[in-house]
Amino acid sequence: MIAPAAIARMIADETARFTAANPRSAALAKDAARHWHRGVPFHWMLDWGTPFPLFAARAEGSRLWDADGHVYDDFCLGDTGSMFGHSPVPVSRAIARQGAQGLTFMLPTEDAVAVGDLLAERFGLPFWQITSTASEANRAVIRWCRGITGRDKIIVFNGCYHGAVDDVFVDLRDGVPELRRSLVGQVYDMREHTRVIEFNDLSALEAALAPGNVACVLTEPALTNVGMVLPDPGYLEALRDLTRRHGTLLVFDETHTISTRPGGWTGTHGPLPDLFVLGKPVAGGVPCAVYGFSAEVAERMERVRAANESGHSGIGTTLSANALALAAMRAALAEVMTPEAYAHMLPLADRLAETLRATIAAHGLDWHVTHVGARGEFICAGTPPRNGTEARAAMQGDLERAIHLYLINRGVLIAPFHNMTLVCPATTEDQVARLGNVLGECLSSLME
Ligand SMILES: Cc1ncc(COP(=O)(O)O)c(C=O)c1O
Repeated sequence: MIAPAAIARMIADETARFTAANPRSAALAKDAARHWHRGVPFHWMLDWGTPFPLFAARAEGSRLWDADGHVYDDFCLGDTGSMFGHSPVPVSRAIARQGAQGLTFMLPTEDAVAVGDLLAERFGLPFWQITSTASEANRAVIRWCRGITGRDKIIVFNGCYHGAVDDVFVDLRDGVPELRRSLVGQVYDMREHTRVIEFNDLSALEAALAPGNVACVLTEPALTNVGMVLPDPGYLEALRDLTRRHGTLLVFDETHTISTRPGGWTGTHGPLPDLFVLGKPVAGGVPCAVYGFSAEVAERMERVRAANESGHSGIGTTLSANALALAAMRAALAEVMTPEAYAHMLPLADRLAETLRATIAAHGLDWHVTHVGARGEFICAGTPPRNGTEARAAMQGDLERAIHLYLINRGVLIAPFHNMTLVCPATTEDQVARLGNVLGECLSSLME
């Protein structure tokens, strides 16, 4: 119902509008290009669809200010790194305090004791380790799972994303496994050790587990990186049963689904995995991630360690569990990611989903809105996808780019990669209403 010509016109108009409105960002982009490859310190910063990068000046709570002085209602929140708001006061205080007391020692601090207790209590797994990113936590977990099972294969789901983790970059195209086409410098074939199947397909799962050589299944409880794909009722419980029956470890990466409730998806709906990964917001935006595991897994890890020569395990980096990250995580877990915070976020995210549904319906569009707690997503297709193939088919690159640009130019940020929104403890009803209004104007303009 939306004509390609209307989309092209909107992209052209909004590109011109962005350029006129952001002279300071344009000048900074020009200067940055002197020494930053492609003009940015990290290439994802080019993914917003703007003609040059928008330079941020500062952010607080649910608002972000750019270098030209515009203020944004921020529903992207650093693509989840700041999903509990920008610079939450307890985290800022902890950073300032620890900043004056040393940043990294290769020694635990008292905060480690408190953080261990908080993690175990909240997520129901007794043992934990820290890394600096969720990517690194997933790499560690895959290595441990292979180490303790003595099996070389892993299973992931089509359309998954778990960070910069070589093993998982295998896609299904027309049912055939292939390496993700966008990879740079890939010199070995991960398909030798990685099985990729569709989410929500129990018979494919049974077949992939049957040879008995699979160390782990690594998944988000709901896929959130290919649009959003929810598990069918009973699917995760069946996954839990089947993995147990085949001696395969189950890993839930809850880096995004921590949006569900304070205990994540698994703490809310179950089932309990063998290993659990959480990164991005766990230290309020300070680089940090954690992985937790059962007592049985811990015991098996010890057996592997005892059997190995001591030395490099291939797991961990020098700055992991540094004092600053521990201090920030303690503040985030104890004072920011609280039940009270979720009590604000969850109903407001419901409201946002209803607002988006109403806006879309008012334009006669057959688009779908899903949300997992505070994380929402609209797709420009009528039916909710059940797997990665269906979710990819629903993506509409140019249309989504036009919408994102339109929103940015009117002071609203949603995640640049797809149509993801996050509601944080500081998000207001007015901001939710404004997003609905601006999206409505955008759709009207596209359908004129
Ligand atoms: C589910 C999930 N796991 C892990 C990661 C990797 O996080 P990071 O880039 O902070 O390492 C991401 C990033 O988007 C993610 O969505």
